[in-house]
Amino acid sequence: MANKDQILQAHDRQIWLSGILARVGYNTPIGKFLRLVFYYMDAFLILNTWRDFLYIRRDNIGEKFFAVDHAIMHTSHAKVRELMQTEPQLRGNDLGIIRMLAPSYLLNNPLTLGMNGSEHTGARAVILQALPEPTEHAEVLGYLVDRSLAKAAIRGQVHIGDDLPKMLLEILHQLVFEIALSETEIDASRNYNKGLVLASLPNFINQYLLAFITFPRVQHRKRLIERYKESPRWQSYLETGSQYQLNAHQVANSLFDTIHIAGTAGTSALLGSVIGVLCLDERLRNDVVSEVNAVWDGTDTPSGHALEQLTLLHKVIYETARMYPPVRFVSQLTTEGGEVEIGGRRCPFQRGTRLLGSTLTANRDANRYNNPDSFDVTRDFSDIVSWNGEGHERACPGKSLSIGIIKMFCLYLFKKYQWDSFTQVKWDFEKVTAVTPNDLVLQGFTHR
Ligand code: HEM
Repeated sequence: MANKDQILQAHDRQIWLSGILARVGYNTPIGKFLRLVFYYMDAFLILNTWRDFLYIRRDNIGEKFFAVDHAIMHTSHAKVRELMQTEPQLRGNDLGIIRMLAPSYLLNNPLTLGMNGSEHTGARAVILQALPEPTEHAEVLGYLVDRSLAKAAIRGQVHIGDDLPKMLLEILHQLVFEIALSETEIDASRNYNKGLVLASLPNFINQYLLAFITFPRVQHRKRLIERYKESPRWQSYLETGSQYQLNAHQVANSLFDTIHIAGTAGTSALLGSVIGVLCLDERLRNDVVSEVNAVWDGTDTPSGHALEQLTLLHKVIYETARMYPPVRFVSQLTTEGGEVEIGGRRCPFQRGTRLLGSTLTANRDANRYNNPDSFDVTRDFSDIVSWNGEGHERACPGKSLSIGIIKMFCLYLFKKYQWDSFTQVKWDFEKVTAVTPNDLVLQGFTHR
């Protein structure tokens, strides 16, 4: 476990680096090499103790500080929100703090998060077309959620960390492509997601030295993408993409990432946290159950109107997303160099330096939220940053679908299913990969 001294000493080295980079150049071979060394050094600290890392640097250095590859990290709600709304926004191929340094793992197609200009506009147009509005497709969504939970009832349990991502993979492939994944494909997609962090290693390490891990995962991605092209929806996605000069490879790969990374990882994490919150708070759970009973009698699948009427559950989802944000960091690049004041010192920074926004600290900023560490569904959620804000070119296109899916799960969980007991509900704030109670198990899970 890293301690305060380690975290602050590593920052002193980042200050030193800003002067060195000003002299040797940011994108020269030596500049790139130095940044890579610092990236892995800070990443090692942040991966193992990410909350302490953020709070120790914020409390001792200030609202902003250097982190990972000499990026400027911002921690306040006001600044993170401002960063999110910058338009146009220049991006590198980064997933939050994670730099995607192994393009081969992504079949050489950047994440939509890392795209710029018309490539990004086109990929978003395809994604927005592909993601259904849950209130308009409540029947199929209800059917898919029920089917996933029925399988869990046969197994007699729901394991939050293992089962929810698999359910989401199955549901999203049905919604986006109308294709049914086999159990083997679902497992392979899970493994693909687990290996994403390896894409942060240099390409030759990822592709060749770690081929025994990465090769089967990349092959799975290739095979699945060929299946996407047989979907009844494929031609319409391709037509939209071609209006922006996107080819079949770009369209299929962007949808692969939308389903796997943004859709599955984000929604299963938030759904797991909502279930955890409702397991722990009996009073809140009873209120949610009353609301569920009031909007749905349990005969047909729930209607879109029933989803809209779940106003308390809506606030529970927002407040859970505030306290346990599935996406921890957002990232963009500066378009000009300059000077930044860090810890009372003027430090030079170069064009192309990453600007990071930390969602967790923004969401728990006492200047924005009273008693930020307590759960309170009566808050004003109008400027919540967990889905990257609203109404700008980088806002999450899956917000409404992810909320609709979680509502549908709660309708079925509390009306049609039951469980005898649950294991400990614990959010692990040490591991940056787990802001959800992954070890929680609903035991004795059956149909009502
Ligand atoms: C059905 C589920 C979801 C889908 C399909 C989805 C899809 C996406 C896509 C494709 C992007 C990239 C947009 C772009 O590049 O312009 C994105 C961004 C984002 N999503 Fe979602 N998302 C889903 C659920 C969630 C959830 C549950 C959260 C968190 C509560 C979330 C938070 C975000 C954030 C913060 C970004 C911006 C990241 C950045 O700019 O670096 N998403 N989402």
